[in-house]
Amino acid sequence: MGLRIGDKAPNFEIETTQGKIDFHDWAKGSWVFFFSHPADYTPVCTTEMGRTAQLAPEFEKRNVKPLGLSTDTVDAHKGWINDVNDTQNTLLEFPIVADQERKVAELYDMIHPGESQTATVRSVFIIDPDQKIRLTMTYPMTVGRNFAEILRVIDALQTTDSQEVACPADWVPGDRVIIRPTVSEEDAQKKFPQGYETLRPYLRLTDINK
Ligand code: BEZ
Repeated sequence: MGLRIGDKAPNFEIETTQGKIDFHDWAKGSWVFFFSHPADYTPVCTTEMGRTAQLAPEFEKRNVKPLGLSTDTVDAHKGWINDVNDTQNTLLEFPIVADQERKVAELYDMIHPGESQTATVRSVFIIDPDQKIRLTMTYPMTVGRNFAEILRVIDALQTTDSQEVACPADWVPGDRVIIRPTVSEEDAQKKFPQGYETLRPYLRLTDINK
């Protein structure tokens, strides 16, 4: 069975473009955007790697470390990074795991044989600083991921970790949030002195930006 949200992210030691890492040591204290791609020197993957590199300041601002993975070698990754930098007009500075033996790919269930027998699909794991898996997403070979959504869900998780709120459909930072139904009226009045709108007793909206 694959990994589920709420599970501890399994540890591994492996070679990357920035040397050997022990995943838990490398991730310590940070959120992690851990993502696999099918293969180096392929077009969609090139754009995804470029986008991740371009967004480095956005990941940094959120205390998130990106970590890529495919079953290609360190040498292949390093050659391809030059192409990513040239074609996507960026400087890729995060590590990419070289998982030729598919050790981590199997541990994280990144090979979906109905899609490809050998290549990793486009898996995403958002892992928190307690090394708990908080979100998983899986995209097919032919569709690149939406990086606005990746940043949005990190913002939403960080928001809902810091206050007793939840984020409604299509929430983006700045929008109103939902006061969790487990918060009593008495507590809600104390915790949200800015006030809130009650549409139903279980659906109370508040503006945490005030
Ligand atoms: C791509 O990144 O363009 C790609 C990789 C594997 C299969 C199809 C497309």
